[in-house]
Amino acid sequence: MIADVLIYGSRILRQHSEEVVNNNKLEELINTLFETLGKKGGIGLAAPQIGELKRIFVMDTSPLDDEKVEKFKRVVINPVILATSIETVKYSEGCLSIPDIWEEVERPKEIEVRYLDESFKTVKRKLTGTEARIFQHEFDHLAGILFIDKIHPLRKVMIAGKLKSLAQKAKKHHQR
Ligand code: CO
Repeated sequence: MIADVLIYGSRILRQHSEEVVNNNKLEELINTLFETLGKKGGIGLAAPQIGELKRIFVMDTSPLDDEKVEKFKRVVINPVILATSIETVKYSEGCLSIPDIWEEVERPKEIEVRYLDESFKTVKRKLTGTEARIFQHEFDHLAGILFIDKIHPLRKVMIAGKLKSLAQKAKKHHQR
């Protein structure tokens, strides 16, 4: 199933998600997340973006045409960031919930994480590069944080008009 992606202005995008419990509805949610992400051509999608306040997100780097980026598809459930590097990197980010806005965000270069995979098996890994970047962006969604919260204050002023019109459009469509 392809779900509607909530757009900036939705109150759901600002809420905290709850821990996922393993049940028979989980597979359906995972499929919906991957199908919706594929349709929109994004590389990461968190459950709250489709209105499900659950601590789960998916990543799929297949739309990236950079040969240097490893191709992977991953399901991340109940994630924890255990450690972050002091070294940071800047990278231009976008978000399916904030269409047509791309801004540079500074984040730790490497992170150490723990999460459950699609079979509810505990995974502990060190991430770097694109995967660390997507992971941190999606992880933030689970706490109601959006990438525009982390951009330079001057840039935020520059895009304030665009954000306002996104929120107004969302309201007009009676978005939750
Ligand atoms: Co996003």
